[in-house]
Amino acid sequence: MQDRHILLIICGGIAAYKSLELIRCLRKDGAEVKAVLTAAGEKFVTPLSVSALTGNPINNALLDHEAEADFGHIELARWAELIVVAPATADFLSIMAQGQAPDLASAVLLAATCPVMCAPAMNVHMWQKPATQRNLAALVSDGVEMIGPEEGEMACGDFGPGRMCEPDVILQAICARSGVPATGLTAIVTAGPTRESIDPVRYLTNRSSGKQGIAIAAALAARGIRTKLILGPTEIVPPAHLQTISVTSAAEMHTAVHEALPADLFVACAAVADWRLAVPHEHKMKKRGREETFTLELHRNPDILASVAKLKGNRPRLVVGFAAETENLIGNARHKLASKACDWIVANDVGAASGTFGGAHNTVTILTDQKTEEWPTMTKQELARTLAGRIQSTLTDGRDQDQLDG
Ligand code: C5P
Repeated sequence: MQDRHILLIICGGIAAYKSLELIRCLRKDGAEVKAVLTAAGEKFVTPLSVSALTGNPINNALLDHEAEADFGHIELARWAELIVVAPATADFLSIMAQGQAPDLASAVLLAATCPVMCAPAMNVHMWQKPATQRNLAALVSDGVEMIGPEEGEMACGDFGPGRMCEPDVILQAICARSGVPATGLTAIVTAGPTRESIDPVRYLTNRSSGKQGIAIAAALAARGIRTKLILGPTEIVPPAHLQTISVTSAAEMHTAVHEALPADLFVACAAVADWRLAVPHEHKMKKRGREETFTLELHRNPDILASVAKLKGNRPRLVVGFAAETENLIGNARHKLASKACDWIVANDVGAASGTFGGAHNTVTILTDQKTEEWPTMTKQELARTLAGRIQSTLTDGRDQDQLDG
């Protein structure tokens, strides 16, 4: 991001406080940041905080005498190499979709020729309203890239999609969009749960959210690694710039992974169901008589990780598996490393007390043939970035898996 010109438009939403952190992250990455606050945005964060963090004066008025002498909105639009609207409120998305320009922020957008990204943030019902979805579709077809929103609890107490993505996630999307030089490396990442059909209305699945795997795919892509994300059914919307192949069952995931080969790297982060019905019932299964127990005959699913790690001709240079355990973490993980023939295992405790499944944090231990390395607790985004960095240096420096501590 060194010296990239990023213009940040901050609208009026409670998520605006996260935009201050986003400015810090962008500047830490070397970008030059200017910001425009809408009138509502100024009610949530002050121009003083924003200009202190960007290191640039802030000018929010469309018809400011001094700035407009230099055609302020045109100058800003020319200066920007990328415009990021975060938080993007329902109201501002509507203004953008209609091409209106009632204030400086919207006038700059209308005058801009650079790429535009929006991180929407609003109440779940505002997000789901057909009018908002129409505006969104119009903007996406105009080439505006949406980052999120995420699903979760809202400041107003509602739950659902509408939360602005965390600054880390927005930063990764920005890096990917700002043309990080391609490394020539390719990766396949599986993420999320799988869903195994029992009958037309029932299925077997697990509690995986897909958050960690999506973050890893995004972190690899942000490093210029061409990444395919093979994603099981989840509520989380992956970043639009990620090449995502959506699948439902383990068998579909297995096929999609093998079709996506060859690749330099395979990261198996998905929580693949171990079992499936050989043939799901065609019609909804009925209770028969008064029986108190019921038995389903389950068949073993293909082990996707092992099937890739044990390939003869097409094996990726680095194969990374995950071990989600609730007991004997290291012992089970070491056994998995050998039995699945992968190069690294990322072992994490997913016991109820850990809060890993669906949570924001993860504590992992990385195992190779030679080493066991405990990593401190990090957010899933931080873990993804750290792991992606380690993977890239292993693949590019030719360091092998027993030199993990480099
Ligand atoms: O055997 P277990 O499910 O504990 O192994 C976990 C690791 O194996 C994860 O990396 C997971 O993505 C992968 N896996 C797979 N296909 C399966 C089962 C697990 O790729 N059928």
